Amino acid sequence: MHIQFSQSRPQAARLIAQIVDKGKLPSDLPRAFSEGAKAAAFKGNPGQVFDGFVEQGDEIARLALAGAGKGDSPERLPHLEKAGAALTAKYQSAGVEELVLDLSGSNLNANEVAHVLLGLRLRNWRYDIYRTKMKDEHKVTLKSVTVVGAPEGMDQAWAAASALAEGIEFTRELVTEPANVIYPESFVERCRARFAETGAELIVLDEAKMEELGMGSLLGVGQGSSRESRILAIRWNGGAPGEPPVAFVGKGVTFDTGGISIKPGAGMEDMKWDMGGAAAVAGGMLTLARRKAKANVVGVVGLVENMPDGNAQRPGDVVTSMSGQTIEVLNTDAEGRLVLADALHWTQEEFQPSRVVDFATLTGAMIVALGNEYAGIFSNDDQLSADLAAAGTKSGDKVWRMPLGAAYDKLIDSPIADMKNIGGRGAGSITAAQFLQRFIAEGTPWAHCDIAGMVWADKPGRTWNKGATGFGVRLIDTLIADTAER
Ligand code: BES
Ligand code: MN
Ligand code: ZN
Repeated sequence: MHIQFSQSRPQAARLIAQIVDKGKLPSDLPRAFSEGAKAAAFKGNPGQVFDGFVEQGDEIARLALAGAGKGDSPERLPHLEKAGAALTAKYQSAGVEELVLDLSGSNLNANEVAHVLLGLRLRNWRYDIYRTKMKDEHKVTLKSVTVVGAPEGMDQAWAAASALAEGIEFTRELVTEPANVIYPESFVERCRARFAETGAELIVLDEAKMEELGMGSLLGVGQGSSRESRILAIRWNGGAPGEPPVAFVGKGVTFDTGGISIKPGAGMEDMKWDMGGAAAVAGGMLTLARRKAKANVVGVVGLVENMPDGNAQRPGDVVTSMSGQTIEVLNTDAEGRLVLADALHWTQEEFQPSRVVDFATLTGAMIVALGNEYAGIFSNDDQLSADLAAAGTKSGDKVWRMPLGAAYDKLIDSPIADMKNIGGRGAGSITAAQFLQRFIAEGTPWAHCDIAGMVWADKPGRTWNKGATGFGVRLIDTLIADTAER
């Protein structure tokens, strides 16, 4: 989708859209049109679209009103994205090639307009490279959006939003690719290509290096796969020299069969997106690099494939992590925490970060608790937790804090090793988080974000169609912008 800016409305405009705040129907509409909007119960709620035909000189044009909710909502930006996305959803395949976004009667600022455009662009994203045939009704006809009457500062605002779009689209691409295409090594190569001219630095650990570092926990998960495991670190140093970075760490299980504790067949294909945490971290880093964020940030992803071959790890095996702590692997399907244990420890040793936030599709129990509305966060630090919650509300990547505590921690004590990798029947997401916390150094502010319910959507949502959502990129971008950049 081509997005351009223009001083005046193109003469031949056939489809014109306006953004309308809740209860603020424009006063200059033809009477029949505004009566029609009222009759259709159009109130300007986020995502509502009403359209009709109006006379434009000698021509007839289609006029669409897109609702954006209340102007003073704390969720203003997500609502504006939803307004833009609703326009794309409605007109993407409707036969029109150009949509004119007319801002002449609007008081949106540049950043707000940029988020409308972000919504338009993101809802247009699709991944068709494996389709060789396409039905006519699926073909996209909408090719360009022309913005008329954009406010001051639009160039800068759109550059930042475009960086965000690029990051989110990269995350969606990584998540959407099947596991025969994206595996640990190819994940790294995809990143090498994407980060080539961004100024970010990539560091890769192969299995020999991880062996040397003593990463028995991560390597144990990958040992049943013919694909080699990797750790990838992406560094962006846009801040003061020597200032400790903020670290993001992602679970990158490129396919999770469960290993010897194998999963049931039905729905197992979903586990191609068990690298959604890693994809969010990679996309977030791409956004920060593209908009040249004034902060030091490192993104680390632990990449493995969890498969059950003759060399696979068995239930009951005891492994030694890089931290020196030993783990009794009672269930090979609780593998994400084993990968993160070593990735988190190495991140702290290597980069001495000021804060650590990990992203992981860690537990099915998280979906049972929060569904697909909020990711769960678990943290040892009230300030970091509050910062994430604020970034979530503002950006639309919403998070909800869950508890941690000594009583939960006890549930993963093992009779044979320092800990076991599963707790009991209850509190599955919390015991997983307790496990991760055992790999966080005393005094390091840390938060774990369980995004199991957020990576993939079964139905269209705010700015996405069915499929990969790109969750996490906005959260990373906003957290850095609001707490690490000056
Ligand atoms: N990747 C899964 C969690 C998951 C399940 C994410 C469904 C998204 C959708 C994770 O590795 C896993 O298998 N967790 C187990 C943990 C259990 C064995 C303690 C689970 O949630 O069942
Ligand atoms: Mn698993
Ligand atoms: Zn998993």
